Amino acid sequence: MKKIIAVDGPAGAGKSTVSKICAARLGYTYIDTGAMYRAVALKCLLSGKSVDENLIGDIDIRLDNSARVFLDGREVTKEIRTPEVSRAASDVAKFGFVRKKLTELQREMAAQGSVIMDGRDIGTQVLPNADLKIFLTATVEERARRRFAELKSKGLAADLAQIEKEITLRDKQDSEREIAPLAQAVDAILLDSTHLTIEQVVAEILRLAGV
Ligand code: CDP
Repeated sequence: MKKIIAVDGPAGAGKSTVSKICAARLGYTYIDTGAMYRAVALKCLLSGKSVDENLIGDIDIRLDNSARVFLDGREVTKEIRTPEVSRAASDVAKFGFVRKKLTELQREMAAQGSVIMDGRDIGTQVLPNADLKIFLTATVEERARRRFAELKSKGLAADLAQIEKEITLRDKQDSEREIAPLAQAVDAILLDSTHLTIEQVVAEILRLAGV
């Protein structure tokens, strides 16, 4: 039977890392909705234009089984992970017409089979009937440390204090926007990963999923 798991939470809580592992263990498809907002943001940055209905109308965003991301046919998996794109993603995510388009694509993807989808509004807006909803969080200090380590491991320049500032700002922007803000669904289970390992979070989600 088709099952749906929704994982929401603030930046750097570990959503994509644990969702990817859970998807592999469960044989579900992993859908990273943040990557889709990042792809829209990258398209704007590359074109030098601000987001409009034209830019979004014929956008082609694809996620494959290896979590690679393609924008208009070109692989952009690495390019969308820079701090500049993170900021721009949060900016484009405010617009109703952007959210409408990506929500449609996300629902189409979820209709294909069992999925674990992560983002900000999955349990509240995109898939309100999900079988299991997780709200994954951690302190801002811990989330900044994780993002710092992630950027370093990719050989990218990183400054811990700067990352913490940017994460705080992005969380505020994501939580305070008018349309589909970052929020815990009333029926979501809160999981604080501050003192948990990746494996512990994965084990808890699988337990909650009844595996
Ligand atoms: O990986 P990280 O947690 O830093 O961010 P992400 O999940 O890749 O999302 C990047 C940005 O896209 C977020 O800051 C949100 O503004 C936006 N986003 C959203 O509005 N709704 C979603 N379902 C997913 C991401």
